[in-house]
Amino acid sequence: GGRMPCLRQARALGRRKGMVNGCHASPEAYKPAGAAQARKGRCPAFGRRGLRGKGKARRMGVMRPGTCTGTAPQAGQKKEGAAVRLDKFTAKALGLSRSEARAAIRAGQIWMDGAVCRAPDARVPEGAAVSHAGRLLCAKEFVYIMLDKPKGVVSAAEDERDTTVVDLVRGEYPRRSLFPAGRLDKTSTGFVLLTDDGPFAHDILAPGRHVEKVYSVLLDTPLTQEMISGFEAGVCLADGSRMLPALARPGAQGPCSAEVVLRQGVYHQIKRMFGVYGAGVRELRRTAIGGLALDAALGPGGFRELSPAEVARILGG
Ligand code: URA
Repeated sequence: GGRMPCLRQARALGRRKGMVNGCHASPEAYKPAGAAQARKGRCPAFGRRGLRGKGKARRMGVMRPGTCTGTAPQAGQKKEGAAVRLDKFTAKALGLSRSEARAAIRAGQIWMDGAVCRAPDARVPEGAAVSHAGRLLCAKEFVYIMLDKPKGVVSAAEDERDTTVVDLVRGEYPRRSLFPAGRLDKTSTGFVLLTDDGPFAHDILAPGRHVEKVYSVLLDTPLTQEMISGFEAGVCLADGSRMLPALARPGAQGPCSAEVVLRQGVYHQIKRMFGVYGAGVRELRRTAIGGLALDAALGPGGFRELSPAEVARILGG
């Protein structure tokens, strides 16, 4: 109905991205590094045994309204606060606001372990099957998006004048507070990682972490051995600051092309490093972060969510 446009959006997204209602269709559990994974405890209404022993209601595949009440934890339950509430879970999984999620739950649209659950404060036990319109839901704590940044787009969450990298994906993630984990210049293109996982972004950007980033560069002059050796030794920029050793090697597109690998992220770093040798940068494209290469199938402005294995590869190198 007209009340929840986001619900349709979320389902459409699921179809487009090969996901089920925002849930990775792969059997692999979604456990990003650093995410709060503890969803301990049990559904107060169903417990670990689900609907066993609930007779007719179970056979019919429905529960009477009000049977799932979200009452106090049962004895033996570890820490009640660790299990996520159904309204929070539903909101995350369907991209709804908390009040929209509550309305959907009260309207009987959300099922838990085979029965309608109308209690927004019910706890979702680990491994519970929560579904909507016949599809299993999966509430991810964080999302990780690979974007192929086009020229002219700025690496920021918001900007008054220019389109930002977050603007490009916002329509599909209306409730997420996404930001770019690392920047590319407005004129540069390629791999930008968008996430709402602050600690993860901090990790990959931390100077001491030295996550490698690979760039494909087109110069206005041929790449020289002097540049290659200078990069390897650590270029001293015009302002006197010395860069960490970096790799420069001939690129695949002729004598003016180069591939550069950096382990730090200083403002305009590659342009300034080549500038020391009097070389100008015509094109700059980031092709990999850590051990993860940009998906060539995306194309300018294209984006997709990363699988857990891909997220791990970024830090794994
Ligand atoms: N170095 C630059 O000069 N620009 C970028 O966008 C990235 C690295």
